[in-house]
Amino acid sequence: HGGGEAGLDPSSLIWQDERHFRVHTRAYTDQAVFDAEMARVFSKVWVYVGHESEIPNPGDFKTAYIGTQPVIVSRADDGSVHVLVNRCVHRGAVIARETRGTVRDFTCPYHGWVFGLDGRLLAVSERNDSGGYAPDFDAPEGLHRVPKVDAYRGLIFANLDPDAVDLDTYLGRAKKTIDRKFGRSPAGRIALRGKPFVMRYQGNWKFQIENIVDAYHFLHTHKGFVALQAKYGESTGDYGAHKGGSAKAMRQIRFKGSSWALRHGHAQLENSGTADPEALLNGPHRAYYEALRDIHGEEEFAFVVGRMSGTIFPNLGLIHQQIRTWRPIAPDLTEVTIYLYDLVDAPREFNEGWMRSQERFYGPAGHGMADDVDIFARNQQGLAGSAVEWLVLERGLQTDEKLASGDIKGLPASEAPQRALWLAWKQLMARR
Ligand code: FES
Ligand code: FE
Repeated sequence: HGGGEAGLDPSSLIWQDERHFRVHTRAYTDQAVFDAEMARVFSKVWVYVGHESEIPNPGDFKTAYIGTQPVIVSRADDGSVHVLVNRCVHRGAVIARETRGTVRDFTCPYHGWVFGLDGRLLAVSERNDSGGYAPDFDAPEGLHRVPKVDAYRGLIFANLDPDAVDLDTYLGRAKKTIDRKFGRSPAGRIALRGKPFVMRYQGNWKFQIENIVDAYHFLHTHKGFVALQAKYGESTGDYGAHKGGSAKAMRQIRFKGSSWALRHGHAQLENSGTADPEALLNGPHRAYYEALRDIHGEEEFAFVVGRMSGTIFPNLGLIHQQIRTWRPIAPDLTEVTIYLYDLVDAPREFNEGWMRSQERFYGPAGHGMADDVDIFARNQQGLAGSAVEWLVLERGLQTDEKLASGDIKGLPASEAPQRALWLAWKQLMARR
């Protein structure tokens, strides 16, 4: 497939009819597909670039990526947020190399051109020195600005396509996931905690999306973790407000609630059972839970405290008490960044407990992340040969319910959440 993306027919990579939903191996392995994804997916949709708590004050900035495109997210003196292509307009050097910082302006390390926090070109170094620029030099205006920037509950998104739908429409029902997750804070806000945990895996970026909302894999991929929990009966936050999470108990939890394939490729696992709301209201954090119940009302309270995870296509995951984002580097290489967060105004021990439980599962010494990353690499290895063409994503296909809104609701361990991404992917990739 040496012809770049020109000869690519993405519709041939999804086999979809009444009984089938299959994805072709090439969708995960092919360089031409990857190149097309950068042009047709990442350059056309709202991409998550950061949280407002990372850049609270004028002069603060952080760096991020839109696909393979490096960007700077900055806060200017008037408080406005800008997303700038992190590439000098002179001869292309990356301007900001740190992941986060505070500056008065951005000075290019190569020849010293200076740009404002809003990207405007403020000075051309040695502009008039001998051999300098002509008086009528047509200087570029500044760093390229990503044309659309918007935020939802502190989550900042950017879109390279000036004609894209607005963020509110794009997020659709996925806003519910965000509202409920952040609704666990009595103030309705989160604050990112310290430095993120960054790691890479040898596999395609879409494995990460598929996996965050995969209720099906847990008992198998994380068998060792489940066994340990059964043996020591340790409470591990999201993975068991249940003492002694035996495989049987875990199965019951995992296969409760509902799964969602939302419009625009977002997905959700909803309320796959947690300790029941009554028990929480009578437990050690009674005052906190009572406050939440008063804020949200009885019915919504059950969802707010329920276990849920969600993905916002193409690069944001909300799972446990963390913001997870990933960036594609190559068809078989992906970088994942995990930010733990605090629920503002929640009891300190409560936030602390969540953090500890995440360390057990996700940290460098944790079980779960290592399990998943190992599977992603195995998946990519498995796809290396050409003897078998298709992957099977049909679980729950017969029981999925398509709603008038265009969203699809499935049984708890349906593969509807995995299909969500492919439905959006297929549409986007078909456009030129
Ligand atoms: Fe930035 Fe030359 S590349 S000043
Ligand atoms: Fe997992």
